Amino acid sequence: MGDKVEISTKNELMTAFKAVAGNKRKTEALLNVEDLSLSFTQYASGLRQTELKVISNLSLQAYKGEILAVVGSSGSGKSLLAHAILGILPSNAKLDGKIEYDGEELTQARKEEVRGNEIALIPQATTYLDPLMKISSQVIGCVERKNEGLMRKLQREVFQRYNLRPEVERMLPHELSGGMTRRVLVSTAVISSSELIIADEPTPGLDEKTLNETLSYFKGMADRGCAVILITHDIEAALKISHKIAVFYAGTVLEVANVEDFKNNGENLRHPYTRALWNALPQNRFQAIKGHQPMQDEVTDGCIFYERCSKKKALCSQGIPQLKQVNGGMVRCNNAA
Ligand SMILES: Nc1ncnc2c1ncn2[C@@H]1O[C@H](COP(=O)(O)OP(=O)(O)OP(=O)(O)O)[C@@H](O)[C@H]1O
Ligand code: SF4
Ligand SMILES: [Mg+2]
Repeated sequence: MGDKVEISTKNELMTAFKAVAGNKRKTEALLNVEDLSLSFTQYASGLRQTELKVISNLSLQAYKGEILAVVGSSGSGKSLLAHAILGILPSNAKLDGKIEYDGEELTQARKEEVRGNEIALIPQATTYLDPLMKISSQVIGCVERKNEGLMRKLQREVFQRYNLRPEVERMLPHELSGGMTRRVLVSTAVISSSELIIADEPTPGLDEKTLNETLSYFKGMADRGCAVILITHDIEAALKISHKIAVFYAGTVLEVANVEDFKNNGENLRHPYTRALWNALPQNRFQAIKGHQPMQDEVTDGCIFYERCSKKKALCSQGIPQLKQVNGGMVRCNNAA
């Protein structure tokens, strides 16, 4: 193709090409979240304020060249974590704890600086696209005029790679199918040159072929050196491509397991909830466990999983278990050793 961009030869757009040019799996944490808590201030009757705590003591890391899947029930805080990292929480949100990106604290000002550049969000809602703006302008974003031509060429190359026909760039969002919208959002992340990609539920409603295609895009991004956080309900899909799985429950991380730990009866998994998720999969014993994830007003002082746990002991109701390192993973359970 005459207008194909030779990615490695465009010095002025080197940063824009990092996401498609990296090639190594690296070992340093690109994102470090430590002891994060998030609450919303709400107004009850009159002027009385209440605090609704939705994330507590949450810690995790994302590494270059790796896919970290984040799994867990609906309402466990997965999207809010993404929004906290990107600095797009509503104004009544109160955030405590530490978020570091590339070794530096991610302040609100820095979040605004890196959002859409170094850190990209593939949002859970496909309504994220502006309904009145042509796809191409949304994918490319705001660029200096002198770079516009090159960015457009890059966009065309990326669209071609993701099987988006040339005319898609002139369309409006309502003209796209669900699968096309996902691919447009993935393209936006690739073109943004981001080093950290956060994909929030990118696969629901996709047929098997499109699902596998979408997963392969993320794998490709990690293979090229990006850190990818894949938020999903689909554990089976996550296991196909991820290196690590963080298990969320009621606003915190109960375990970070390596993908290899998910086998047999789950005996290598460290937390009873992770084992329950594994055993509930169709190819396993399809076993559900009784009870439900606690609502914010049901949270007690002890282990958040206490009510549903068949292994609980007296100690478990007396304070939150520490997050500790066990067998190359992380777990918050008094029984794990
Ligand atoms: N603006 C808000 N004000 C108050 N509570 C909120 C707000 N946004 C989210 N929540 C609550 O915070 C909790 C976590 O929400 P979040 O959207 O992160 O869940 P999730 O894990 O992404 O769920 P899903 O899998 O359904 O997408 C939920 O109980 C939700 O109702
Ligand atoms: S800390 Fe206790 S209650 Fe919580 S998961 Fe572990 S064994 Fe069960
Ligand atoms: Mg969500």
